[in-house]
Amino acid sequence: MSPFTVTRTLPADADHAALRTDALHGLTADPKRLPPKWFYDARGSELFEEITQLPEYYPTRAELEILLAHAGAIASVSGARTMIELGSGSSEKTRHLLRVLTELRAYVPVDVSESALVQAGHVLREQYPELSVHALVADFQGGLVLPETPGPRLVAFFGSTIGNLLPAERAAFLESLREALSPEDTLLLGTDLVKDEATLVSAYDDAHGVTAAFNKNVLLVLNRELGADFDVADFEHVALWNPRDEWIEMRLRARRSLTVKLTALDLEVPFTAGEEMRTEVSTKFRPEGVRAELAAAGLELRQWWTDAMGRFALSLSGPAGDRAR
Ligand code: AVJ
Repeated sequence: MSPFTVTRTLPADADHAALRTDALHGLTADPKRLPPKWFYDARGSELFEEITQLPEYYPTRAELEILLAHAGAIASVSGARTMIELGSGSSEKTRHLLRVLTELRAYVPVDVSESALVQAGHVLREQYPELSVHALVADFQGGLVLPETPGPRLVAFFGSTIGNLLPAERAAFLESLREALSPEDTLLLGTDLVKDEATLVSAYDDAHGVTAAFNKNVLLVLNRELGADFDVADFEHVALWNPRDEWIEMRLRARRSLTVKLTALDLEVPFTAGEEMRTEVSTKFRPEGVRAELAAAGLELRQWWTDAMGRFALSLSGPAGDRAR
């Protein structure tokens, strides 16, 4: 069997330091905010998998439809011998691509959740015993150090997770990705598209309250990791469409005035009744916007595919050849 390795690029407590910093800044800011990456402890990752099965949450199914329809083209255009997947989670979508990437030698899943990487790694080993898997426990925003594997490399970033970054963060992220790519490498990027408000809002406010539980899970993460005393019953899940920025915002709204203590930060945080804290933005894209953001980072759009209903897009791009760097 080929090797399966898991590498932590950060010391085990770096996560904790980052959470402390994010919580301290976010909870003392006005308005309050928390970055979405802290949703994904083991419970949060499970809840996200549940979200992907909900009738209201179309992005996962729409993206899979595109992947199934165009996997062959992705394989032949990219000619990938290494696939790097950012935010790989359960690696569910990847399996369909691995089947058709006949030249593939190495798979590098990158995720903040070590439990998800280990689980996915074991499943993949059974299906593809010849493939070497180098899992990286890392935050894709943190400047990746990639293992030495054969090119061309295909970097896949599914789920429209790029939409969870703010515009300036996206620009910096795409720029650093472009710098890491060789001329023959490609980027396969999933982007959810702008559509009617009702469809968007219900995807983030489902009838069964799974998204609400996912949103509130971040409070339980703070309770456990930072000795906070949030009572999730004091908060209400809010999902709204922000038409100016063209993103969905998830917030947590305090049902009454209350004060939360975080012992690990030696901090007390007051909330007024009705106060809202932003926990996620999920940007929805337009085709011309995706092309422009890629171009600004020195990436040229080569293929653009959508699902039959035009809800979601996958794009294939690569370093622009005519640009002096
Ligand atoms: C992590 C980008 C796939 O923004 O749609 C799902 C996370 N948040 N429901 C998204 C999420 C609420 C999701 N992605």
